[in-house]
Amino acid sequence: MFKKIIITSGPTLEPIDPVRFISNRSSGKSGYHLAMEARKRALGPITFITGPTYYLPAQVEVIQVETALEMRAAIGSHFRQANVIIMAAAVSDYRSLKYYPDKLKKNNDRMTLELVKNPDILLELGRHKRKNQILVGFAAETEDIFANAQNKLIAKNLDLLVLNEISEANPAFACDQNQVYLVRPDGVRKLEKMNKAHIAALIWDEIVSLAGRS
Ligand code: CTP
Repeated sequence: MFKKIIITSGPTLEPIDPVRFISNRSSGKSGYHLAMEARKRALGPITFITGPTYYLPAQVEVIQVETALEMRAAIGSHFRQANVIIMAAAVSDYRSLKYYPDKLKKNNDRMTLELVKNPDILLELGRHKRKNQILVGFAAETEDIFANAQNKLIAKNLDLLVLNEISEANPAFACDQNQVYLVRPDGVRKLEKMNKAHIAALIWDEIVSLAGRS
């Protein structure tokens, strides 16, 4: 059905010194289930680009990266051929300005680490998106969730946004179950709390229906 599918997954890992890094709690389960579901349905060849995770799908092309910049470069070399791109990765928003080649010593009671913003890969992809490409993003919001989601959808030129409302009852990160909303330019669909494999199936239903319209 699709010429190529790109799915990004997992966290990125931004090194500080030889033993330390900045990262986040993403397990990589959402991306993993999206890849497994696409494989099960034989939707097309999959390139799975992932930060460090245990969840690596079998029988698909896997490209393992660490940093946001590496992830961006890996996507860049496959983007043109893809007609579905799903950014399920939790890309680190910032990285250390400097990489310290020697392990930092705890010489002072306080220390300041200067961070620099990583490129917003999804935003860049949205700018280069062509008519035959479907771009799917994820968002984690805690307040004004629908207004923020609609703004993101427009700003990043997305076809679909998987919106997580983060709360104590729904931590979303590093767990098996999740409650999400599927946000499209023409409306919002609430999914009940369910496991991530089931959510992946419903996300693919939505993408396949979007592809049928274009
Ligand atoms: N993303 C990306 N590059 C980044 C940061 C995020 O491509 N440097 C992608 C993620 O893969 C995800 C989406 O953008 O699909 C998340 O968007 P983001 O704006 O970072 O959303 P939040 O995490 O909800 O963060 P915030 O509203 O704080 O910006």
